[in-house]
Amino acid sequence: MTILHIDSSISGENSASRAISRSIVDQLRAVNPAALLVSRDLVSQPLPHLTLDAFADSSVLDEFLAADTVVIGAPMYNFTLPTQLKAWLDRILVAGKTFRYTANGPEGLAGGKRVIVALARGGFYDAGSPASALEHLETYLRGVFNFIGIEPEFVAADGLSISPEQREASVRQALGETVRLAA
Ligand SMILES: Cc1cc2nc3c(=O)[nH]c(=O)nc-3n(C[C@H](O)[C@H](O)[C@H](O)COP(=O)(O)O)c2cc1C
Repeated sequence: MTILHIDSSISGENSASRAISRSIVDQLRAVNPAALLVSRDLVSQPLPHLTLDAFADSSVLDEFLAADTVVIGAPMYNFTLPTQLKAWLDRILVAGKTFRYTANGPEGLAGGKRVIVALARGGFYDAGSPASALEHLETYLRGVFNFIGIEPEFVAADGLSISPEQREASVRQALGETVRLAA
């Protein structure tokens, strides 16, 4: 079994999404001690913006295709995902590899993988809340992974900019949730 661990927060050791994604990986490895771990830090090793030439290098796509489980730390920046993470998605959404168009519409080709996303958001975006229309992180990632045939799982820490107390409570709750993911 291969676990691919992706992080994209710019906040280093203070990052909530990094703490949660690390906890998810730790839980998975505890029940699969023989699992091979591949880590990709999109901040310390950023991928350049997509160009046509970039399609000639399939190393990022191959790394994704080789993974059985993918754990992604995804902070919300300006209501959506970090550009570093978008650059990674630009390399794994490849027609003929992870999806294809058929007479019946698009078809995902990357099914069978488990994708777990650690979300960290400064505010609250629950359905019906005033800010819900600005939620373009979880909705976008769900749509993208569904498009390539994967139903992603999410662990969310929300309201992290509200107060230090709210941040601590939300991160603690999310870390607690990571335990059930490995069950
Ligand atoms: C540049 C920047 C932009 C942000 N934009 C938003 C935003 O649009 N909505 C929101 O709810 N929180 C926003 N936040 C708050 C982050 O989502 C929050 O700090 C979260 O903890 C980030 O994840 P991290 O701790 O893993 O870096 C922003 C934070 C930064 C640094």
